[in-house]
Formats: sequence, C-alpha cells, structure tokens
Amino acid sequence: MIGFIGGSGIYDSLPLEDTEEHDVTTPYGDPAAPVTVGAMPDGTGVAFLPRHGRDHQYSPTTAPYRANIYALKELGVERVLASNAVGSLREDLPPRTLVVPDQIFDRTRKREYTFFDEGCVVHMPFAEPYCPHMKSHLAESAREASDAEVHEDGTYVCIEGPQYSTKAESEHFRASGFEIIGMTAIPEAKLAREAELCYATVAGVTDYDVWKEESEVTLQEVLDNAAANEEFIKSTVRRAVENMPEARECDCGHAVEGSVNTPTEAIPE
Ligand code: ADE
Repeated sequence: MIGFIGGSGIYDSLPLEDTEEHDVTTPYGDPAAPVTVGAMPDGTGVAFLPRHGRDHQYSPTTAPYRANIYALKELGVERVLASNAVGSLREDLPPRTLVVPDQIFDRTRKREYTFFDEGCVVHMPFAEPYCPHMKSHLAESAREASDAEVHEDGTYVCIEGPQYSTKAESEHFRASGFEIIGMTAIPEAKLAREAELCYATVAGVTDYDVWKEESEVTLQEVLDNAAANEEFIKSTVRRAVENMPEARECDCGHAVEGSVNTPTEAIPE
C-alpha cells in the first residue's frame, strides 16, 4: 500500500474506489486524523493522512508525527509520498516551483525524533534522508504531470517555528547553500526511516522567505501560492501512484538491519 501525508485535498484527485476511514490508535497516541484508505482501479491501495489534522489543528511542532507514521505502517503502507509548503532561499526557485529535495538540515528543537527511546538503542543510517528511488520517481512524476517548474535535489532546512526566520537566519541558511526552508520535514523523515518505509516529498514553494529585499512572509502570499501548488501536487501524486514501480528496489525496507541496534518492538512488523 502507498501512503500519502500532506494536504487533505489530495485524495480528491485520485480515482479511489471503496474508500473507508480507519480510526487507528497507536502506542504514541492518535494520528492527526482518521486515515482514509481506498483502492486505485488497478487495485493498488492508498492511505491518506492530513499531517496537521482535518481542521489544521496541529502546528508543525505539535503534529503527532510518531502516531502518523505508526498508523500508516500498521495499515500495511510500505511507501510514503509527502508534500510540504516551503519558502525559497534561491532567486531561481520562485513561488509555485516544486522542489523534490534530497537532503535535510535539521534546525528543530522540541520534537519526538525516534520510536526507539525505551529499553533499546538504535542508531539508524540517515545520510540519505529520502528514499533515492522514490525521490527520482516523484520528481519525474512532477515533471510529467504538473505544469510547474520542477527542481530535483537540494537541501530542505527544517526550522522549529512557529515564527518564520529572522533575516540573519535566512542569510545564514543561504550562505550555507540550502535551497528551501520549512517546518515539517523533521521528524517525519527520520521516523519513516525507522519504520523502514520508503519516503520522499514534493515541496511547493510559497514565498521567498525573508532574505529577499523588502520580503516579509505574508499569510495571503503563502495561502495563494499554496492553493496553486496544491493543483500541481495533486497531479504529481496521481501520476506517482499510477506509475509506482511494482517492487521496492532500495534498502529502506531493511534499514534496521543496517543500523547499530539492540532488539525492540517499538514499531509494528
Ligand atoms: N513554510 C512556508 N514558507 C516558509 C518559510 N519561509 N519558512 C518556514 N516555513 C515555511
């Protein structure tokens, strides 16, 4: 089954049959919303979860990331597509560009980063935070199916929020060579790796962050561009689901084996 975490409007774009809502409870509390599960015409199962809840009641800090990932895993999801709204740190990545990043720089401070925090120690490989196959597949799907400019690769710097950055911070991230800035990549990507899921994200640029002269991030700007990006992301996700390769050809499904660890039952088989 393929999972999707992001805007709740996305599943309208898929020709799903037999949709059902699943109330999943997890050892980490309830996910942000009931998970909507349905089948594509070829039988492929798809599970949808809005990261911030149905009424957008969770902030990037309070979103129940562990319960979200656990719930998808429990329902049989093996590959997760995600979407995020981000600011741009580069002139050549204007609002309404889609970016499929290959790296993350973590600047968050108060989130639950692991399933393995009781009775065991696990150090997972995370040098490549996104599944390379899913990342390429998602970028190709975006290029083929959306009307957006698509940028493959680049670093997503994830800040804690809820405030946007200062100019000094924004300049610092630019000087570091990062491409985009957001608040939701972490810990989702870390937890997906721990749960041995393939995971990649398509990020829609909503603003130029604050480095740009005269630039303050405004709500209206973010909302208008997010609405336009949503259409691009819908067609991207539809194409990515329809053309998803049959088999996983990466190591994501064996990530725990490749880690330094003591046994645990923190995530479901
Ligand atoms: N999400 C959308 N735009 C953003 C920005 N400029 N900084 C952090 N998160 C964002």
